[in-house]
Amino acid sequence: MHCLVVAVFAGVLTSAPVLAQQDAASRGERDFRACMPCHSLEPDRNMTGPSLAGLWGRKAGSLESFERYSDALKSSGIIWDDRSLDAWLTDPDRMVPGNDMPFNGIKDGHARADLLAFLKEATKPGPEPQRNARAPMGGMGGMMGGMMGGGGRDPDLKSLEPSMQVKAITYCHDTYRVTTADGKTGAFWERNLRLKTDSGRDGPHSGAPALVPAGMMGDRADVIFAAPDEISKTIEGRC
Ligand code: HEC
Repeated sequence: MHCLVVAVFAGVLTSAPVLAQQDAASRGERDFRACMPCHSLEPDRNMTGPSLAGLWGRKAGSLESFERYSDALKSSGIIWDDRSLDAWLTDPDRMVPGNDMPFNGIKDGHARADLLAFLKEATKPGPEPQRNARAPMGGMGGMMGGMMGGGGRDPDLKSLEPSMQVKAITYCHDTYRVTTADGKTGAFWERNLRLKTDSGRDGPHSGAPALVPAGMMGDRADVIFAAPDEISKTIEGRC
């Protein structure tokens, strides 16, 4: 009986710090939502901001696949580690005046510590480390995945359902009419149809632009092309 009690007690003692760490990381994963619209954890998947994969030990402004760094960040000489990242996330403008990250900072020290605990694991190099790191967190990871698939990230533009495959676009006065592969044609006020390009991994095949609904009312959409020269080639001025 005693042995059992001791064993159970010892078990609690050894697992408590591990659990505490996991708690911090999963709180941090929640805080990472503030960063997700602009930063991915996948290598070289850049959005508004650079991918954060492999962040620790990296020189600031040095990710070669990201072409939009400010001169201020590039010439800052910072190497990213626990301390520099804590200062950056406290107040980016104070640490690197003139940087281009539109983010005010996180003033709560606990929240920063949690976020860094999560990021340190999730940005470790290796084969798909962030996915593996997320798996044990179960519900949370699944929810984040769902969120990214449903709202934040675009659908897979390389294998589109017919209702999203653009076949033709005409332009008449102030109206675009977009015909899709399911045979339907939708009309959009010109200010409500956004023409975008994505030449990257997430973009459509060339010559196969995608119609992606935007907003709640069904009156707005994006057409995403693989390259800018496709835009005027696809749109025919005709009433
Ligand atoms: C609205 C978009 C946006 C949000 C939100 C955002 N960032 Fe950024 N981030 C950027 C941009 C843009 C840059 C590049 C800044 C520059 O070049 O001056 C950047 C740069 C960085 C860098 C430097 C990376 C490098 O390669 O040197 C880190 C680290 C970083 N962000 C972390 C975060 C974290 C963590 C969060 C969430 C708490 C966050 N960012 C929120 C857009 C954003």
